[in-house]
Amino acid sequence: MRHNHKIDEFFNSAYIHKPILWREIAGFIADSVKQGNGHLADCTLGEGGHTELFLNMFPGLTVTGFERDGGILERAKERLAGFGDRVSFVNSNFSGISEHFQGRTKPDYILYDFGISSYHFEKSGKGFTFSADEPLDMSLDGEGLTAWHVINKYPVRELERVFKEYGEENWAAHIAKIIVERRALEPVNTTAQLANIVLAAIPKHFHVKNIHPATRIFQGVRIEVNRELQSIEEGLKGGFEVLESDGVMMAISFHSLEDRIVKTFFRRMKDGCLCTAEPQHCLCMNKPFMKLLNKKPLEAEADEVAWNNRSRSAKLRAAVKLRDIAK
Ligand SMILES: C[S@@+](CC[C@H](N)C(=O)[O-])C[C@H]1O[C@@H](n2cnc3c(N)ncnc32)[C@H](O)[C@@H]1O
Repeated sequence: MRHNHKIDEFFNSAYIHKPILWREIAGFIADSVKQGNGHLADCTLGEGGHTELFLNMFPGLTVTGFERDGGILERAKERLAGFGDRVSFVNSNFSGISEHFQGRTKPDYILYDFGISSYHFEKSGKGFTFSADEPLDMSLDGEGLTAWHVINKYPVRELERVFKEYGEENWAAHIAKIIVERRALEPVNTTAQLANIVLAAIPKHFHVKNIHPATRIFQGVRIEVNRELQSIEEGLKGGFEVLESDGVMMAISFHSLEDRIVKTFFRRMKDGCLCTAEPQHCLCMNKPFMKLLNKKPLEAEADEVAWNNRSRSAKLRAAVKLRDIAK
């Protein structure tokens, strides 16, 4: 069932990020066995947009919000303070979800809204955008790699891999080579420098209208810096382990790399057998672990895209957990 709400209903405009596909997610929560009375793990809390909406819509709901970026988490805490102990906060990667819920009330709903938020692009100053000239950082939690390191220190083959695998950039090898030549003269320190190098590297007649040629390069570097795809794999697996039976897992992806991981994971859980043993030693009898709630991913309706252009590339997949994996 899709909730028949106006798309901007409940939206608190003091915050930058507009929650995506929230009517569809609310529909899955309302139609679940617990009908919104239960616990939600919001794995990507951001500024708390989804969580605020669902806490308002479902008075019997409580939430644990995971957020890797301590800066944006403070904004969410402020926003959600009025909900008191209905919401708790975890400043860490959702890849640790299964450890977090050991000995705690398990979630009935898990939501992943992958990638970064509008706040990151517009206000964080961490170099996610080429619309402003910012230092090359892109690290969500300030641990490990930075974009500066990737761009200035990676060997040419590694740069090419990042651009090709994570940016799905056809010009990966060429752009990597030019960056290596440029950085031999002086380090590439800012987003504007990087964007200009990429702009000049791709011949004009290959530029796509309304899309900056550096878009894919920035996406690739961001995914590499934050190990985003590895976190998604670990987070889905860990989420399944702690989700209650009859609980609902929902995942919003923004590009094909994310969606492929979710689709593959859900398909394996629907098909049932995860045994690595010989078929005659299979312990799970091929009974499904999950039931898909939508065969094709849901996409934003026209009114949502008109309200929030960022929703145009979003895909929502959802599945219900049927049983645990026997250990
Ligand atoms: C698209 S935004 C979420 C927006 C939020 N649903 C809302 O409606 O306001 C994604 C958020 O997840 C965070 N994030 C990304 N990867 C994460 C991870 N592996 N663990 C925890 N948080 C993560 C980002 O820092 C970002 O704030």
